[in-house]
Amino acid sequence: MSRVYAIANQKGGVGKTTTAVNLSASLGYFEEKVLLVDLDPQGNATTGSGVNKQEVEWSGVDVLLGEVSLEDALQHPAEVGYDLLAANGDLTAAEVELMAVDDRLLQLRKILDTVADKYKYILIDCPPTLNILTLNAFVAADGVIVPLQCEYYALEGLTALMDTMERVQESYNPELELQGIVRTMYDSRNRLSVEVSQQLISHFGDKVYDSVIPRNVTLAEAPSYGRPILYYAPSSRGAYAYADLAAEILEREERELKSLRVKK
Ligand SMILES: Nc1ncnc2c1ncn2[C@@H]1O[C@H](COP(=O)(O)OP(=O)(O)OP(=O)(O)O)[C@@H](O)[C@H]1O
Ligand SMILES: [Mg+2]
Repeated sequence: MSRVYAIANQKGGVGKTTTAVNLSASLGYFEEKVLLVDLDPQGNATTGSGVNKQEVEWSGVDVLLGEVSLEDALQHPAEVGYDLLAANGDLTAAEVELMAVDDRLLQLRKILDTVADKYKYILIDCPPTLNILTLNAFVAADGVIVPLQCEYYALEGLTALMDTMERVQESYNPELELQGIVRTMYDSRNRLSVEVSQQLISHFGDKVYDSVIPRNVTLAEAPSYGRPILYYAPSSRGAYAYADLAAEILEREERELKSLRVKK
């Protein structure tokens, strides 16, 4: 069975796509089979994986609307360490057309179930809104990973995100949990960053990952070369940071599994 994580925050430009691409690559590197689902019509995770979003034959919209199977639509980009379901602007059509479907929030879950035995991890890069696509991701997911930039308004937006997650938990997916919050573009010399980070920890405790992603220009450059940082600049700070985060996620899961075994 795969573990499915939605990478979400309705605030724009906080590092969702950078986290989705680089965490996928790092988990893939640790020999875990990974699928990255680009669920954002901006298609940034697609471009960042070296796939031309205008030239893909099949993308998320075709799969969501039942025109092709997920397996037939998948891309297998070279040197990224994961498989990809691509996205482009056509995905906005899925938002509209899904409205007419009865089980409109269950579509992605049904689709991902078809490959659950093939991938250890499925990561979903969500758009910067709490729309029907993001709701599909929450219904399909075991957990939500929230990238957060430690700025003044950062915590405010989290309330709406948590409320939405709660509603999905109550109505569709009781298993859904906040997997963790990852601090992105972090600058330890900035007083506000440190303060917001402290508030975050006092409120969310160990839901805040110990691994911190620093502001690192190489991370911003890598997408224009269509490669995750692990392959573009393996010895950069950004590459180490995402490798650390992947290792922390794997360790946490190992610990959770052990405590489940003990309880049994
Ligand atoms: N740790 C980092 N250091 C430096 N630049 C970064 C870092 N993380 C992300 N960026 C840059 O910040 C911008 C926004 O990042 P990204 O696209 O990952 O955010 P997003 O949350 O996916 O945005 P959107 O809401 O539009 O989908 C990009 O230009 C990206 O390259
Ligand atoms: Mg994005």
